Amino acid sequence: MTFPNIRMRRLRENSRVRDLVRETKVDLDDLIMPMFVVEGLKKKEEISSMPGQFRFSIPELVDECMRIHDLGIKAVILFGIPAHKDEKGSGAWIEDGIIQKAMSQIKKSVPDLLLIGDVCLCEYTSHGHCGWIENGRLINDATLDLLSKTALSQVEAGADMVAPSDMMDGRVGAIRQILDENGHFHIPIMSYAAKYFSAFYGPFREAAESAPQFGDRSSYQMDPANVDEAVREVELDLAEGADIVMVKPALPYLDVVRTIKETFRVPTAAYNVSGEYSLIKAAAAKGWVDEKRIILETLTSIKRAGADMILTYFASDFATWKNKT
Ligand code: PBG
Repeated sequence: MTFPNIRMRRLRENSRVRDLVRETKVDLDDLIMPMFVVEGLKKKEEISSMPGQFRFSIPELVDECMRIHDLGIKAVILFGIPAHKDEKGSGAWIEDGIIQKAMSQIKKSVPDLLLIGDVCLCEYTSHGHCGWIENGRLINDATLDLLSKTALSQVEAGADMVAPSDMMDGRVGAIRQILDENGHFHIPIMSYAAKYFSAFYGPFREAAESAPQFGDRSSYQMDPANVDEAVREVELDLAEGADIVMVKPALPYLDVVRTIKETFRVPTAAYNVSGEYSLIKAAAAKGWVDEKRIILETLTSIKRAGADMILTYFASDFATWKNKT
């Protein structure tokens, strides 16, 4: 049977029918809001390359967590920026580090908000790389110990989940081991499993002061041209004990999201990163695109590709609109 018996437009006739047949819906339950907290900051600062996003002091971060939790956001991922950086990135794991202090305050004030700690060293190292450097090279195995200590300290400060974003080999297993040795069997690991060497992280590095001071991250992050390699990365991270796997960035890698979801059928996250946010914000500010529609279309496309959850700076805007409709 074909036209005129079949008319595809019948199911597009009005919004009630369209709502009934819609295949993909973005729900507040699926969104994770990334946030930045800066040691020694007096007053929050807007990030110039990410309009609408801020670097917070601890008290302001706690207030913002309360506000977005009231809007219906259930999870946040936190990035800390220390006052002092050193070669080892020790600010990442010390007991009174910025992220540890922020986490324990948030846990006290907003206990129901799911707190995810980004586990990496680049915000904390003087050279801006994600690990231990010797003779200008990043040393994988020496980094594992530093990352594990960081993950453990975050969990001890109140993190409900840890998310290693460094791309060292073996870090998921190392983190699982230290968490288990300390009795934290129940804390899940969300691994940035397929994290690409991407120009889309540009605005984040301004926000987190984490740009490498020499060279780049191409010896540890993945080549944007590869997808078979993403499958291997995910396979290994799952074998080491990852509970959730992530593809990052999201929009230029939707094919990777789909491949990972179809291959492994495990909880899959996609990170709609800073550059993806800033491109939309910049075009919207010029009046070139309809901001609200383009954000909804973007988030829908990431879910349609197979992501179960999305880390996105649009989470609080989305929640605000949801509450109004
Ligand atoms: C590394 C990290 C980065 C992002 C999240 N974790 C930056 C990088 O690898 O250079 C980027 C997030 C974004 O662009 O929104 N700690």
